[in-house]
Amino acid sequence: MSQEASEGIVGALLPPEELSRNAYVKSMGEYRDLYRRSLDDPDGFWAEVAEQQLDWYRRWHTVLSWDPERKEARWFEGGVLNAAYNCLDRHLAAGRGERIAIHWDPDEPGEGRTLTYRQLHEEVCRFANVLRKYGVGKGDRVCIYLPMIPELPIAMLACARIGAVHVVVFGGFSSGALRDRILDSGSRTLVCCDAGRRCGKVIPLMRNADWALRDCPGVQNVFVVRRAGVAVEMKEGRDHWWDEELAAEDIEGDCPPEEMNAEDPLFILYTASSTGRPVGVLHTTGGYLVQASITHRWVFDVHDEDVWWCAADVGWVTGHSYLVYGPLVNGSSQVMFEGVATYPHPDRFWQICEKYRVSVLYTAPTVIRSLMKHGDKWTTTCDLSSLRVLGTVGEPVSPDVWLWYRNNIGGGRCPVLDTWWQTETGGILIAPLAGATPTKPGSSGFPFPGVVPVILRQDRTEADVDESGFLCIKQPWPGMMRTIYGNHKLFVETYYSLFPDAYLTGDGCRVDADGYYWLQGRVDNVINASGFRIGACEVESALAGHQFVSEAAVVGMPHAVKGQGIYAFVILKGEYEKLDSDEVRTDLLRYVGNRIGPIARPDVIQLAAALPRTRSGKVMRGILRNIAEGKTDRLADRETLADPGVVEQLIAGSKELLDKG
Ligand code: PRX
Repeated sequence: MSQEASEGIVGALLPPEELSRNAYVKSMGEYRDLYRRSLDDPDGFWAEVAEQQLDWYRRWHTVLSWDPERKEARWFEGGVLNAAYNCLDRHLAAGRGERIAIHWDPDEPGEGRTLTYRQLHEEVCRFANVLRKYGVGKGDRVCIYLPMIPELPIAMLACARIGAVHVVVFGGFSSGALRDRILDSGSRTLVCCDAGRRCGKVIPLMRNADWALRDCPGVQNVFVVRRAGVAVEMKEGRDHWWDEELAAEDIEGDCPPEEMNAEDPLFILYTASSTGRPVGVLHTTGGYLVQASITHRWVFDVHDEDVWWCAADVGWVTGHSYLVYGPLVNGSSQVMFEGVATYPHPDRFWQICEKYRVSVLYTAPTVIRSLMKHGDKWTTTCDLSSLRVLGTVGEPVSPDVWLWYRNNIGGGRCPVLDTWWQTETGGILIAPLAGATPTKPGSSGFPFPGVVPVILRQDRTEADVDESGFLCIKQPWPGMMRTIYGNHKLFVETYYSLFPDAYLTGDGCRVDADGYYWLQGRVDNVINASGFRIGACEVESALAGHQFVSEAAVVGMPHAVKGQGIYAFVILKGEYEKLDSDEVRTDLLRYVGNRIGPIARPDVIQLAAALPRTRSGKVMRGILRNIAEGKTDRLADRETLADPGVVEQLIAGSKELLDKG
């Protein structure tokens, strides 16, 4: 634990020698050589990676073409491949069909399901044939609304196999959120299940889907997986049972993969944006697969003997890249877990690690914090000796949480890799490499080869060492999003208007004298609650849709377990001001839960008389943020306020509320 790194980096922890010896990238020297090469000759570097990572039906003629005006990137143009082929068929061809692809562990501890690469291939082919039978083809969007069951990756890979574009919607989202995503993506096919299971409870996914589909007349076919065995109403002609369709006589266990161009879309995934509604992030085939798979291999140093476990939900990008595409391209054996870390007890994760001899675990700081809260005793009952590398993602990880993870879970011997990336980036962009990088608690280490971050000040100049600024990325990378589905103008505005020559991540960051990156959270209106990305504007418009509400403003607040919580300032319409405030709050919480999903429910709702505004009428969010963070001594710009008295009232109201707990 007190081992100090050489390479002139003081206070960092070296990877264990044995790990480095067998690693793909063995030292900082090797990392620096790779990084230099990736900048000196990016085309050569990425071509080599693309060749090594994937099987292509036809090789590309141009590695990258980038239109800096239109912000259009095209990677591996001329290349032809299929994502499902790369995740499945080529492993069978290499005699690895009997290797376990997925150990599935259900919500309730007990019998799970194991799928070899051969079995996974067959199920994917069957569902791909079902989709084809119902007229789904290249370019069609297929919405998938499933919990963490094997049918989720199967459905995604079936889409990829026939060139359809999957649109996965997190099973924790409400019917309204599902409807918006189906409509925006123009999906005509939906895959869902009777109901999900979570902490022993039944989550009525088919009922949500039914509600959503009332407003989606374009959806022609719904495939329903039986998961919870609950009764559902099947609509004649529209709804089909998944198992019956797969078992139908005319459905074969093989399905020729569609030949896709490298730049053909692979999926759309909706994520919160800084302004307005969630945006459909579009990823294409070749570049995305290269990024997801090489980062999985090099960052975590995953080898054939490893058992990989990414504990994220496939409804978010982490599951797309590090449960589906990255590990399957690399032919890994992995765990997929349906449930929750604390159910039935706070040692559930460790039981799973022991059961499957997990060697690389990738999870979110919020999960670690929630387990820390239950005390160390839960970490000592299971055999965690199979673990060799630990990862985190999704939010900044504080040094105390990092060290607890390393010591209590990793036995002090496993490197902890804090990996930074986003839905938009497709794969990890900044992270330590397991065998190479000395780690500093709380830092994401260095940029991945080929990635050129820059920390900018508002005036577009570069920040100094240790100075916080906007984290931006200067050059295109293969896994970058190509556009916002259906709205390229919004893509350019959102990501390239503040700094025209660099992609704006929305995160604050500083780089220390050793070159380590320290991520500091979002600097825009996106809130990261429990690692879930939620747009403040989205919650505001949900609240504003409630009949009692005249106006709402939503900001992030510090939260001990969630990292960030959601703080809503709500102004009621005059006629409702006299209602009991606790009842109003309960009703608003339920309403937001129904409109977006439980994850978007505010942690604090402050009913207020007015919001602070500038003289020109703009809501002063900075002030609200400071109040929510309890930094009320810093409210410097009160002079610009139209009515300074409003702030005093808000501060008093906030204190009263927070004191009440
Ligand atoms: O704020 C950053 C935070 O998560 C945001 C991206 O969220 P999403 O698109 O949902 O993807 C999450 C999984 C990749 C980022 O803008 N974030 C992600 N990883 C880290 C992080 N913040 C700090 N440290 C990280 N390692």
